[in-house]
Amino acid sequence: MSDSFANVKRLIEEIAAANPTTKVELEQFRIQYLGSKNVIKPLMGEIRNVPNEQKKEYGQLVNEAKNAAEQKFAALQDALESVSGDADLPDSYRDFDLTRPGEPLELGSRHPIATTMNRIVGIFQRMGFAIAEGPDIEDDWHNFTAMNTPEDHPARDMQDTFYLQNSTEMLLRTHTSPVQARVMMGQKPPIRIIAPGRVYRNETISARSHAQFHQIEGLYVDENVSFADLKQTLMYFAQEMFGTPKIRLRPSFFPFTEPSAEMDVWIGMDNEKNYRLSKGTGWLEILGCGMVDPQVLENCGIDSSKYSGYAFGMGIERQAMRLYDIHDIRLFFENDVRFLKQFSAVI
Ligand code: DAH
Repeated sequence: MSDSFANVKRLIEEIAAANPTTKVELEQFRIQYLGSKNVIKPLMGEIRNVPNEQKKEYGQLVNEAKNAAEQKFAALQDALESVSGDADLPDSYRDFDLTRPGEPLELGSRHPIATTMNRIVGIFQRMGFAIAEGPDIEDDWHNFTAMNTPEDHPARDMQDTFYLQNSTEMLLRTHTSPVQARVMMGQKPPIRIIAPGRVYRNETISARSHAQFHQIEGLYVDENVSFADLKQTLMYFAQEMFGTPKIRLRPSFFPFTEPSAEMDVWIGMDNEKNYRLSKGTGWLEILGCGMVDPQVLENCGIDSSKYSGYAFGMGIERQAMRLYDIHDIRLFFENDVRFLKQFSAVI
């Protein structure tokens, strides 16, 4: 009996003497005196063995021990929060929690336009074409004049664009064709390049047309280049890109090629989706092409009596729409991740 009183008294002294100085020690203190298996509980159970007339006193003593532990814990907790042993460390260190789970890295995905461009570029690279690039902000001469579209030429009307402030000379290029001029000015034949890039036109934005889009230009200049070479190259491209060599070349006009043609690829009339892209004909219009006009060669310092060439220029968006079954060109430029995420499996 008196043992029980003595035990509680010793415990009270022990609690009073305890001096946890770190958070770890304080936690040990908490587990020992206040945790679910604390040392006070069994002493409380001892009350069974205490004579009735002393039970009240004993109970009070045990409660005293418990209160002492609680008060000490609360006081030390406050003290350690405000002046902890690592108080001189910056907050970022003090709050550093090694056990915290990492934050998952969100992997992005390639834009469907980039994927489509890469695919087309790859096809021509395998045929031996090198990649060339030109600036988006182009001068009038490269964009129009060198490409045989002088200032008063009616073909300029079809390609209205955005001009830089205070300059009628600098503009956003309307096609990738000026890269032809830049390459021919800079190197001698044989020339075999493709030029992917962004182009701009002052056009009303709708589901089918946009003021910015992408093109890939092709140019081959050498001795004895013929229209047959052009056609064969395009058939190969159609086979690789669309799985069919079935193309048709419709006579057309471009100032920088003579003769000129537009190429369609047969995508069939199997379903409504194709109907939308081909306007019910089964033919998807892909590109403009032709034999480089001798005047363009001369404009760029290449002897047109010795060299000939072919060129082509294709839009990317429509091909991407066909590949991925996208019905509105504006989706490409809105950068809505809900749209873009759908292509995360595409490489
Ligand atoms: N630049 C033309 C356009 O944007 C496309 C084009 C047609 C490019 C014929 C060419 C070509 O190289 O030979 O509409």
